[in-house]
Amino acid sequence: MRSIRALVLVLAAAAVLAGCPSKSNPDPAAKNAGPAVLASAAPTPVSAEPAPNPARGKHLVFDYQCNRCHDGTGHPAAADNKHCVHCHSKIMDDKFEAPAASIARWKPRVKELAAAPSLEATGKRFSRKWVTSYLLLPTDLRPHLHQFMPRLAMSLADARDIAAYLVPEDDPAPAGASPELAGADLGKGRQLLETKGCGSCHVFTGVAAVPSSAPPAMDGKRFDLGRRLAPDLRFARDRMSAAKMIAWLEDPQAIKGDTPMPKPGLSKAEVKDLAAYILGAEISPPPAKAKLARLPVLARKVTFKEVDEKVFHRTCWHCHSEPDYAIGDGGPGNSGGLGFKPRGLNLSDYNGVAAGYLDDKGERASVFIKDEGDVPRLVKALLARHDEESGAETGPVRGMPLGYEPLSAEDIQLVESWVAQGRPR
Ligand code: HEC
Ligand code: HEC
Ligand code: HEC
Ligand code: HEC
Repeated sequence: MRSIRALVLVLAAAAVLAGCPSKSNPDPAAKNAGPAVLASAAPTPVSAEPAPNPARGKHLVFDYQCNRCHDGTGHPAAADNKHCVHCHSKIMDDKFEAPAASIARWKPRVKELAAAPSLEATGKRFSRKWVTSYLLLPTDLRPHLHQFMPRLAMSLADARDIAAYLVPEDDPAPAGASPELAGADLGKGRQLLETKGCGSCHVFTGVAAVPSSAPPAMDGKRFDLGRRLAPDLRFARDRMSAAKMIAWLEDPQAIKGDTPMPKPGLSKAEVKDLAAYILGAEISPPPAKAKLARLPVLARKVTFKEVDEKVFHRTCWHCHSEPDYAIGDGGPGNSGGLGFKPRGLNLSDYNGVAAGYLDDKGERASVFIKDEGDVPRLVKALLARHDEESGAETGPVRGMPLGYEPLSAEDIQLVESWVAQGRPR
């Protein structure tokens, strides 16, 4: 039983995860871009900023494998067996070839991982400045989407070039009052937000809750997707100028053909009022995220088997597996990918976990080594993911699981207890 499960999973997921993008790079000139992982070593000093290079940005989008999660990158989508979102959504849509029992077991796991916004027409919606800062420090924009944009190992220079590629013509949001919004009525804007079905998809944290009015008449599945992909409107003012907001509200599909947001069907005056409200309503600071309440180490015995079932094989193994010469590499956390250099960390079995990872000098290091605060690196990575969620900088240890829901306090307690007990088998 166990071996069949393992085989199916290997075929389905782990072995196909990472890959060497340069081998299949359709554009030979991409070689000149230089590997993204090297570029991350030395951020360009701000004082000597060269003009951003959108052509290099385009190659970087390929090198960082943005097309494994996003459509609309200007590159072909990654192959299905590498594409995080396409593969998960194929499983959800019963289009993935695997035994029915496996599909049924996977569905609850991948349900929340089956959508990401497409990057089509990024430049018609957002400013370059916002894209640059988001790539360097992504935060949670969509309350109904459980998948996050991962924190990549990206230098300022790379972020600027990618932003220049995604936003070819910048219109920096003008400071202060926008002439396009002169004479707008914010009160009417608020009323429209409440009565035009916006609240069925969007939240607007920091203002009085928008009532979740009746959803617009549209296909149920498309509505679900739209709701998951609808950003919290509190971020719009950081991302969009008044001109871009007005064009969006007039006809979203004219800006971004694949958007699930329906056309609001408003008069010019209504669009102006609504845009003025979204951009100008007074918003209170974001509610502070509750800090993780860590649990004490357990007195009962914790075995590798238990940690493996609940944590390593459930969540981590996917990106940290044993490379196999016949069916693929070991995922981005082992043989590299998403712009990361190979870390050689195999979390698929006891010996793999014990063998540790490759540090910045390329030397083997233990994931159990403790920091000044007496926290093993493995546990630190799990805690760092919680810190990332609150928007904090996390220093040299990246949050794990990369770009996914942080582990619960109980699961972290389990890992910590296992390490504290001397890692019994
Ligand atoms: C592992 C999957 C994954 C990878 C790889 C990834 N992203 Fe994302 N990205 C996401 C998800 C999921 C979101 C939505 C997050 C949210 O709304 O909170 C997102 C959001 C974004 C956004 C904001 C889009 C919007 O409409 O709000 C931009 C811009 C973006 N990503 C660019 C990139 C670029 C450029 C790369 C490559 C350098 C990249 N992403 C790689 C998953 C990914
Ligand atoms: C070929 C299909 C496929 C691809 C490609 C794929 N996945 Fe998955 N993913 C799965 C399956 C199947 C599962 C459920 C595995 C299980 O239940 O043991 C899963 C589960 C996961 C989980 C665990 C969720 C949990 O409950 O803890 C994460 C995280 C994940 N995938 C992330 C990714 C990321 C990131 C990528 C891209 C780098 C990716 N996946 C690419 C098929 C895939
Ligand atoms: C079916 C769900 C749905 C409904 C209903 C909906 N939207 Fe949206 N909206 C979205 C999605 C999804 C996006 C993100 C665009 C994309 O990536 O496709 C979006 C984007 C936006 C944006 C851009 C904000 C940003 O940060 O990117 C604004 C502004 C906006 N919507 C306002 C509205 C208003 C006002 C209404 C009501 C008239 C409304 N929306 C109704 C789904 C919806
Ligand atoms: C979506 C893919 C992905 C998933 C899922 C994932 N990892 Fe990782 N992991 C990576 C990548 C990529 C790196 C390399 C990061 C770097 O070089 O900064 C990494 C690095 C690490 C490291 C070394 C970090 C360091 O200190 O430098 C540890 C420890 C780790 N992961 C643990 C885990 C654990 C435990 C889980 C499951 C709870 C997990 N990872 C899930 C992709 C993933």
